[in-house]
Amino acid sequence: MLYGILKTAHLLSIILWIGGMIFTRYFLGPAAAKLDSQTRASLMQDTLGRFFRLVAYAISIALISGIWMVGRVAKMAIVAGTNFSLPITWAAMMGLGFIMAGFFLLIRYSLYTKLVKQVAASDWQGADKSLLTIRNWVGANLAIGLLIVLAMGVGPYL
Ligand code: HEM
Repeated sequence: MLYGILKTAHLLSIILWIGGMIFTRYFLGPAAAKLDSQTRASLMQDTLGRFFRLVAYAISIALISGIWMVGRVAKMAIVAGTNFSLPITWAAMMGLGFIMAGFFLLIRYSLYTKLVKQVAASDWQGADKSLLTIRNWVGANLAIGLLIVLAMGVGPYL
């Protein structure tokens, strides 16, 4: 039962994170590109700020639930007297998951902080450049996330 709850929390967090990145990059971004620089920068700063707050929780839940599940499976193997070896897909998910979390920290605490300062200083040209950089890093994180989902979905059947 606990394992089921952890896996559900894990998947919901991932859905929120990846779904939010897809929405921002492929729907909100292109629509915002049609606005003038000032309106675009203010809209994106506000939207990204709200999204990043929620994503910070989602990442924490995804990492904690993921590590907890690994711990539970390892413990069950030890109790049953068998050897536990981390499946390759799980190891890849963990490694890439930490890289994604690192990218998020960079986006949130370096690039987004810069954007906030530029909006406050009415530096719309600088804000446009920051939005482009954020867009590229979000794209990289999205690609890694989709790769993990693909590996977890198809990997076990190869
Ligand atoms: C520290 C990071 C992570 C750890 C330790 C971890 C661990 C786990 C574990 C133990 C499972 C359960 C597997 C099973 O019961 O078959 C799982 C499921 C899953 N995880 Fe992660 N995970 C991490 C990060 C991520 C990330 C970043 C993503 C995607 C972006 C992801 C996507 C998935 C998916 C799609 C499943 C469902 C797979 C299935 O039902 O077969 N995980 N994860």
